[in-house]
Amino acid sequence: MTKPEKSWEKRLSEAPDELAIQFVESLSYDRRLYKYDIVGSIAHAQMLCEQKFITRDELKKIKDGLLEISDDIANGKFVFDPVFEDIHMAIEAALIQKIGEAGKKLHTGRSRNDQVATDIRLWMRDEMELMQARITLLQKAFVKLAENYTQDIMPAYTHLQRAQPVSVAAYLLSFPEMLERDFVRLDNCRRLLNVSPLGSGAVAGTTLAIDRQSTQQQLGFAGITANSIDAVSDRDFCAEFIFDCSLIAAHLSRMAEDWIIYCSGEFGFVRIDDKYCTSSSMMPQKRNPDMLELIRGKTGMVYGSLVAMLTILKAQPSTYNRDLQEDKIHVFNAADTVQACLDMSRAIVEHTHFDTRRIAAGLDEGFLDATALAEYLVGKGIPFRQAHGIVGKLVADCEKSGKRLGQLELAEFHAVTTAVEKDVYDHLGAGNVVRRYATPGAGGIEQAASQIASWNDRLSKR
Ligand code: ARG
Repeated sequence: MTKPEKSWEKRLSEAPDELAIQFVESLSYDRRLYKYDIVGSIAHAQMLCEQKFITRDELKKIKDGLLEISDDIANGKFVFDPVFEDIHMAIEAALIQKIGEAGKKLHTGRSRNDQVATDIRLWMRDEMELMQARITLLQKAFVKLAENYTQDIMPAYTHLQRAQPVSVAAYLLSFPEMLERDFVRLDNCRRLLNVSPLGSGAVAGTTLAIDRQSTQQQLGFAGITANSIDAVSDRDFCAEFIFDCSLIAAHLSRMAEDWIIYCSGEFGFVRIDDKYCTSSSMMPQKRNPDMLELIRGKTGMVYGSLVAMLTILKAQPSTYNRDLQEDKIHVFNAADTVQACLDMSRAIVEHTHFDTRRIAAGLDEGFLDATALAEYLVGKGIPFRQAHGIVGKLVADCEKSGKRLGQLELAEFHAVTTAVEKDVYDHLGAGNVVRRYATPGAGGIEQAASQIASWNDRLSKR
């Protein structure tokens, strides 16, 4: 392709330096916006025709040319030349090359500033939908796994110390909750970004009678931006999107951390499928949860992108500045990383087993029923703070004698409090405790069953 002259080269006395060409280009990464750029340009051309800036014949040439370019890019036939800086210039130059004069009218009433702001919004809407679909699949995987363990009990930890017994299903159902908030956060972010900046031009709009509503409606935006000065430099939605990605990464990282601990020899709670483990180059016995470690590790990159995005926005003078070009590096990075982590997490969840026998064998350790015993004493009329002290003393005694609370004789209880009666033994032990949880949302067997039912209902609609 012979290089068409860039119109603004007339303003500059010298051709750009090779170093400058390489430094300023974004084509190497913004080419992935090409479909959105073309869709946006077709809508813009359609509007230019409605407003009589171009003829029907010119519109047809532009549309056909753009669609051919789209095919060429999709088929790998398009030659990306960094001299065109970005995807917008590359496509426009190729169009002019292809169709001549009509192509030169496409940029009427438009700037790359409103063009790129439009493209990222269009891209992000689709990307969010894909992300939400992946979130839903992961939620479904957790619910399905939970269904296998409705009758099983495990310790819940606070401070990574044994705390209270919970149903394994209830533990697993904590993750779809986090993911649901992530899903809704993406919806909220979409609502704010779903307005069309097209027609804002470089910064002040245009003196030409273009029709912003037309392009807005064609592109499926809910409205148009109200202020061109803001619209060309607003990247709030980019920061917000990366923040949403960061929280997803945080949630996946916490799950990964749990299971890395749970599959250690010391815990032995879960078995991650061999497919998702690696071995050691030196220690032949090793089965390492590297995928989970990478899910945890990649969180750092997503957070890095969030900080980078916020820093890019900080202290830029109004309005568009080239700094903003860097936005795409970070939204793409955060999106790609999180999409991959969501896929990997789902595959792992679908192939993980809880070793319920091993978990059950350890349930007598760690006084998981101590809180329930204090609550039993509340039922016998003892103020909670006092009951807490009584059980603390009983636990300390048990620790010395190597007994569980349920192994204490009535006489031993009575040495500390006479409030304890024979029925105490129905309240002790992890199984009794889990069956007795009384509040909605508690970690009990019944509560887990009702959460499974409500998740299945909710998720079947998506
Ligand atoms: N590649 C640029 C970006 O991503 C497009 C806008 C360039 N605008 C300009 N006035 N130089 O931000």
